[in-house]
Amino acid sequence: MQPTTHKTSQKRRQILVTSALPYANGPIHLGHLVEYIQTDIWSRFQKMRGHDCLYVCADDAHGTPIMLRAQNEGIKPEELINRISHEHQADFAGFHIGFDNYHSTHSPENRELAELIYRRLRDNGHIHSRSITQAYDPEKQMFLPDRFIKGGCPKCGAEDQYGDSCEVCGATYSPTDLKNPVSALSGATPIERESEHYFFRLADFEGMLQYWIKSDHLQSEISHKLNEWFESGLQDWDISRDAPYFGFEIPDAPGKFFYVWLDAPIGYMASFKHLCDQHEELNFDDYWKQDSKAELYHFIGKDIAYFHTLFWPAMLTGSGFRTPSAVYCHGFLTVNGLKMSKSRGTFIMARSYLDHLNPEYLRYYFAAKLSDGIDDIDLNLEDFQQRVNADLVGKVVNIASRCVGFIHKRFAGRLEGELSEPQLHREFVAAGEAIAALYEKRQYNQAMRQIMALADKANQYIDEKKPWVLAKEDGKDAEVQAVCSTGLNLFMILTAYLKPVLPAMAKQVEAFLHIAPLTWNNYGVPLIGHTIGPFSPLMTRVEPDKVEAMLNASKADLQAQTPAKSAASKATASETATGKALAADPISPPIAYEDFAKLDLRIVRIHKAEHVEGADKLLQLTLDLGGETRNVFAGIKSAYSPEQLEGRLTVMVANLAPRKMRFGLSEGMVLAAGPGGKELFILGPDEGAEPGMRVK
Ligand code: 2FM
Ligand code: ZN
Repeated sequence: MQPTTHKTSQKRRQILVTSALPYANGPIHLGHLVEYIQTDIWSRFQKMRGHDCLYVCADDAHGTPIMLRAQNEGIKPEELINRISHEHQADFAGFHIGFDNYHSTHSPENRELAELIYRRLRDNGHIHSRSITQAYDPEKQMFLPDRFIKGGCPKCGAEDQYGDSCEVCGATYSPTDLKNPVSALSGATPIERESEHYFFRLADFEGMLQYWIKSDHLQSEISHKLNEWFESGLQDWDISRDAPYFGFEIPDAPGKFFYVWLDAPIGYMASFKHLCDQHEELNFDDYWKQDSKAELYHFIGKDIAYFHTLFWPAMLTGSGFRTPSAVYCHGFLTVNGLKMSKSRGTFIMARSYLDHLNPEYLRYYFAAKLSDGIDDIDLNLEDFQQRVNADLVGKVVNIASRCVGFIHKRFAGRLEGELSEPQLHREFVAAGEAIAALYEKRQYNQAMRQIMALADKANQYIDEKKPWVLAKEDGKDAEVQAVCSTGLNLFMILTAYLKPVLPAMAKQVEAFLHIAPLTWNNYGVPLIGHTIGPFSPLMTRVEPDKVEAMLNASKADLQAQTPAKSAASKATASETATGKALAADPISPPIAYEDFAKLDLRIVRIHKAEHVEGADKLLQLTLDLGGETRNVFAGIKSAYSPEQLEGRLTVMVANLAPRKMRFGLSEGMVLAAGPGGKELFILGPDEGAEPGMRVK
């Protein structure tokens, strides 16, 4: 037969792709990975099509939280961001995210570009300055971002709420509305102070933006949302922050720094510039000049659309650079249908996942769920195991395992003869264009469906031909060899189609088939008269105990992090000398063992934790005692939000006489340590403890 060759006829495109830059103050978690996996699949697909696609990213290294975290750790911010950058890059590499360059916003390239863009915007009249009044911490001697002011919610009265919104009733407000506001850094009462700020006049770009957002650069859901923002008027954007601030000082404005969100997207350019500086054939201007023919795509979460679809195109236009070809937003990740939760163990860090499970399981699962829309995607851990086992192991890898044994044992690894089913082979090859179109449109879920339908066909073909039966019959050797050769050829095509999603498995397949790296141009040439190499298992089933172990590790991560709930509370913890609490709280006089033995201390699981209407300090806990449920009111509200407690194990006094309180009956007491207020820590047992166990 004629080899079925296949060439993509498209011209070679120059494509620059980015994912949002992760903040350099925390680890990568599975929520982040939706985006990096989505972008990486797209970039790998474009490369396989023969285009010049470059994928760049960087750490987003500036801002107050990073400055404060470094202070708390007693190190320079540069040291912190270097360490986190290494951790981020190791996590990304673990998930096979194939950046062409990974840089930092705290880099000479970014400083130079941020200054250039700012100067051009200023010289073109788009920047002005005016004095504004803001909350200032007189002890820490710094202006306080809204998140660093806490106080009573002006709407529902809940205590200890952030300066921008209430976690209890959901109200949003400005920090000046808070009741009894305090600085989350020092506990001091903030004062109001004036300072000169620099603003970017977004409204100067209204006409350009109105047109831009309607011209196919955005998903329709996002353009509709933007229309609402236009209706409420484009506000000036405050792009400066006062010292102390970890960032770049604004030219000609001593003591004033670029707000982190000003230089963050410029980090895309800086990372690309850094790449160009290492490759002579790459030219920065080709990609960023106003009339560039190159394509530029930003993949981001829907929560940061405002920055990327209004400020960013406006900044680029105002400083003489090209605008993005498109900004692609995705939804958030939920786990088992709920927001990721630390207490449920579903706030899963990239590292905890990698310690237990194969990264390509998750790549495939996300691909099977991702579309071009902005709906949230759910990682249902049951479905995850079933889907990966059924599709990748049960369908795809199974094709190879069913054929390769015969080829090695009986035919010394030779694929020979005519393809036994050329029509099927042609059908597989022909499907490539439709699958490519789905990848191109980011409809990965549909692409995976089509690939799995082909895998079903390949398995049906082997079922019908039954090489294991033929192998027992005389004179059927050539047929067995042809059937298994056909099966492996179909498997090769499927591997090519899955390669953007499963790059590591594809590499293993290329090695065992003894073939050149698969691209969208070479998978159609049948392997006949070809010797393959030894086969090693490509992918094994997801093991439920590994999933369980990952969840347990994630819960342990949380416990290791508690009580450092945030940069802000960490600052408080280090400054309120916990050591002093012990001195001020001397050990009580001794008691007899019999007295101690009267206490019935039990392990319990906090099944539910809720706010109590009208109570300032209490949370209502529903405790699972291993078969029995108890209702307990605990005075730990200032230290924990309900969400942090649900699912956790702790210790309770189970035989304390019930006490009638204003809010209901309290049937016991949970144990906690610490001076009180925020500094209160519930006790948790080691792994292995179960609800109901007696504490001795
Ligand atoms: O939201 C975030 O995590 C930001 N660090 C994203 C920045 S994206 C780009 F603008 F740099
Ligand atoms: Zn409230």
